[in-house]
Amino acid sequence: MSSSDPASDTYTHGHHESVLRSHSWRTAENSAGYLLKLLTPGLSILDIGCGPGTITIDLAKHVAPGEVIGIDVSSDVIEQARANQADDGQTNVSFTTGSGYDLGYADDSFDVVHAHQVLQHVSDPVGMLREMRRVCRPGGVVAVRDADYAAMAWWPADPRLDRWMEIYQAVAKGNDAEPNAARHLVDWATEAGYTDLDPSADTWVFATPANRQWWGGLWADRVVSSSLAEQAVDRGIATMDELHHVAEGFREWAAHDTSWFAVVNGELILRA
Ligand SMILES: C[S@@+](CC[C@H](N)C(=O)[O-])C[C@H]1O[C@@H](n2cnc3c(N)ncnc32)[C@H](O)[C@@H]1O
Repeated sequence: MSSSDPASDTYTHGHHESVLRSHSWRTAENSAGYLLKLLTPGLSILDIGCGPGTITIDLAKHVAPGEVIGIDVSSDVIEQARANQADDGQTNVSFTTGSGYDLGYADDSFDVVHAHQVLQHVSDPVGMLREMRRVCRPGGVVAVRDADYAAMAWWPADPRLDRWMEIYQAVAKGNDAEPNAARHLVDWATEAGYTDLDPSADTWVFATPANRQWWGGLWADRVVSSSLAEQAVDRGIATMDELHHVAEGFREWAAHDTSWFAVVNGELILRA
């Protein structure tokens, strides 16, 4: 899976409010637990594809006074990350716009180079993993974590959620991305030349009254309002009526008394 021009990648989700509602829920604890045990005060971290920066700001708390930089191709989301930092008041973290394919840092610049839910969205994950190693000091840590859409599981069964999965897979693959990234991480890292790999997996589970409403509600909104909807309709993958039908499926799923949804995340600690 490699594009001749990764600079023209399309990010499947975009940054609609319904997408950022999901990403801003993320913390170092719920999304980078596999990395936390390796963090000590004073380490420097580069967080690639940082989005709204909630994980980045949390990581900064774990390594203060070490310097933490969040980088993202989207200048809009970097503005959001800066606003989140201003609200939080954490001072050893900053945010900048740039691409994970071509990081403007010297070789061996960081102790830790991290990317959460990013490799699944890029057309050349192997190239990005090579660039991550270049800016990581020898013996430092490269840490990546990505979901696997095909491994997501839910109850009760609903054909509208099955259709959501088909639509998501078609749109992401149309972007030369890999929605089932977790299962590819070891292969990609090996192709990128890493030899010291520590793989693990972790899940997010949504099955309480509050987190069901949150997860089902944000997907009901995302499926009709985010870039995913625009791309699905523009490419003839789904009609708007069908997307509203899928959204209704998510609302019913969220309202069900005993519904359950699990997201499998593959994780990989790599030594540079
Ligand atoms: C699913 S979001 C994850 C955001 C954040 N890491 C988190 O987990 O909350 C993926 C992010 O990667 C960014 N991105 C996509 N391609 C990128 C690239 N080539 N370089 C840097 N960031 C990129 C997107 O703009 C988006 O903000």
